[in-house]
Amino acid sequence: MIEIQNLSKIYEKAHQKVVAIEHIDLKVERGDIYGIVGLSGAGKSSLVRCINRIEDPTTGTVIVDGVDLTSLSGKALRSERQKIGMIFQNFNLLSSKTVFENIAFPLRLKGLDKEQIQKRVLDLLEKVELTEKADVYPVNLSGGQKQRVGIARALANEPSVLLCDESTSALDPKTTKQILGLLKRINKEFGVTLVVITHEMDVVKAICNKVAILESGRIIAEGDTIDVFTRKTSDATKHFIGESVSSDSNHRGNNRLQLTFKGVSAEQPILSGLIRNLAVDVNILSGSIETIQDYPLGKLIVELPGDSNVLIEALDYLSAKGVDAEVLS
Ligand SMILES: Nc1ncnc2c1ncn2[C@@H]1O[C@H](COP(=O)(O)OP(=O)(O)OP(=O)(O)O)[C@@H](O)[C@H]1O
Ligand SMILES: [Mg+2]
Repeated sequence: MIEIQNLSKIYEKAHQKVVAIEHIDLKVERGDIYGIVGLSGAGKSSLVRCINRIEDPTTGTVIVDGVDLTSLSGKALRSERQKIGMIFQNFNLLSSKTVFENIAFPLRLKGLDKEQIQKRVLDLLEKVELTEKADVYPVNLSGGQKQRVGIARALANEPSVLLCDESTSALDPKTTKQILGLLKRINKEFGVTLVVITHEMDVVKAICNKVAILESGRIIAEGDTIDVFTRKTSDATKHFIGESVSSDSNHRGNNRLQLTFKGVSAEQPILSGLIRNLAVDVNILSGSIETIQDYPLGKLIVELPGDSNVLIEALDYLSAKGVDAEVLS
């Protein structure tokens, strides 16, 4: 679907070089909702802009549906680019045009006749549940409604991929949930592959089946969302997924474990079993249960006495119970 090979983007301005992305390889399969997360400045927007060739990559290739976009220019590029829809954080609507005209805009550019445009726009308005707002101007819409217009407009050319750059970052939590629900529906019902760029892990957890974590222009972790959250992770990834544990709070000599409970074991009293079984004190340092794509995932960071026999027994007990345990240094 989308194949990115050895992609780099270096901006050069006034003899200054900024390396925005560096040697990225990425594969998005048809039907994926692929999350790309990273902190501000990680290179997320540079990456999307290289995917749809708003920006020319410094090195590497981007292949969409088997076509190498980096080899195209002019008319051929414009035509291929129609396969790629895009929505933005600030919606980028035309303020002097109504909702209907905003959605009709790409269709007029394409040269469709009046009847075809009418039919297509009404259909799109229905998809995003904005039929009654057809003649309203953007200024009179809520943020969520504006983004739904943005989505309808992006779908007008029937793209196979929709790139969403921080498309919910300007919205409140409730509206964010609605827009994410709509994006998920567009993916499931219309088979549109989504690339979701965000700095919010919650967005990824809610809808993405795959995720890549971007840091300083490089991918530091990638894979199925559930795996990336449960995998034995590097410190950098841990930092980003919000469970950095400062080592100075470690009581000297104690063993610190990170426990991950997947699925049904997330709801079982594993820990009280552990305490009874080992007859030792177990300090809970932090814990959470969250839902990743409707799948419960529990995480606990606990401390055990610094006795290696206790540690071995604890690891045995936990693995027998199907709990993933990682010894933190
Ligand atoms: N047009 C440009 N010219 C020069 N440098 C740029 C340009 N666009 C981005 N950069 C630099 O490239 C790096 C990556 O920026 P980018 O906008 O891709 O990050 P981002 O992950 O999208 O950040 P944010 O979350 O703030 O949107 C940053 O250091 C940025 O300053
Ligand atoms: Mg950005």
